[in-house]
Amino acid sequence: MDTFLQDVLSGLNATPKTLQSKYFYDEAGDILFQKIMSSPEYYLTNCEMEIFTTQTQALAKAIKNGFDSFDLVELGAGDASKSVYLIKELSKQDVNFTYMPIDISSHVIKLLEENLPKQVQHLQIKGLKGEYFEMLEKATQISSKRKAVLFMGANIGNMPASEAITFCKKLRGLLNKEDLLLIGFDLKKHPKIIRQAYHDANGYTRDFNLNLLKRINKELGANFNIDAFEHYPSYDPATGSCKSYLISLKKQSIIIANTTINFHEHEYIAMEISQKYDLEETENMARQADFKPVKHFFDEKKWFVDSIWECI
Ligand SMILES: C[S@@+](CC[C@H](N)C(=O)[O-])C[C@H]1O[C@@H](n2cnc3c(N)ncnc32)[C@H](O)[C@@H]1O
Repeated sequence: MDTFLQDVLSGLNATPKTLQSKYFYDEAGDILFQKIMSSPEYYLTNCEMEIFTTQTQALAKAIKNGFDSFDLVELGAGDASKSVYLIKELSKQDVNFTYMPIDISSHVIKLLEENLPKQVQHLQIKGLKGEYFEMLEKATQISSKRKAVLFMGANIGNMPASEAITFCKKLRGLLNKEDLLLIGFDLKKHPKIIRQAYHDANGYTRDFNLNLLKRINKELGANFNIDAFEHYPSYDPATGSCKSYLISLKKQSIIIANTTINFHEHEYIAMEISQKYDLEETENMARQADFKPVKHFFDEKKWFVDSIWECI
């Protein structure tokens, strides 16, 4: 059975019902995510953009860490609109590097391979379409050079804290001593600001969530009535977890590949988590996964951090 179908059926047959947020990113999802990133409420992009545009040289120095030849691997690269500043700076400094964006979306990889060489002359680029770890392993098979890995946009927040530690341990297991990681975290702040980021006035986050139901209809032949579900975002300052749900507005049955999924009125589908951290929690995570946090790059408001973790 197709993995997408298998994941959708096991998620919707579970209690509570869940869908994996990595499936948000089909072509329509990629476009909606770009709209989210340009929303005034979605401060995460502006904060990380500020870091990448105002501290570019310091970032390049930290990434090079004394090496002039390496592979720059980006996990979940998206449109690379922030990392491109670092890529341009490394290129300006005549660093010998290959940019290896990894993304589950084939649309993203195709666009990056087409567009980035137009923006950065002589860029060596090797796009890798697939899951983070499978593609990172492939990157290490393609080239044995030192790896500098970018994991930006608070993607690490899209897993619960316990899974994030397991993820970092697994990532560390695929890296060597001289490799390093730049990892972006969204930091805890006023709960109202966090909740608003996932509840934008234009409804792009709502559409982004509902788009996954449309994708299931299109690719798996299901019959979700999109109007019968409502997006509900929540933020709990006690746990630092921001969660998005889709609420069934009535009792209804959906058919996916001959399987009937029943919904009660007001039953939810857990769609996405965006975990927020304080700095100490991020440093503990680094140490538990055998990394040493060596430098933090903050935006002016200290709402976001890109940290450099060395392998120990
Ligand atoms: C929240 S966006 C962030 C994009 C970019 N890092 C940024 O900071 O703007 C997440 C990106 O990761 C990709 N992605 C999500 N889960 C993935 C997975 N398991 N393996 C590979 N890519 C994944 C998505 O397709 C999407 O482009």
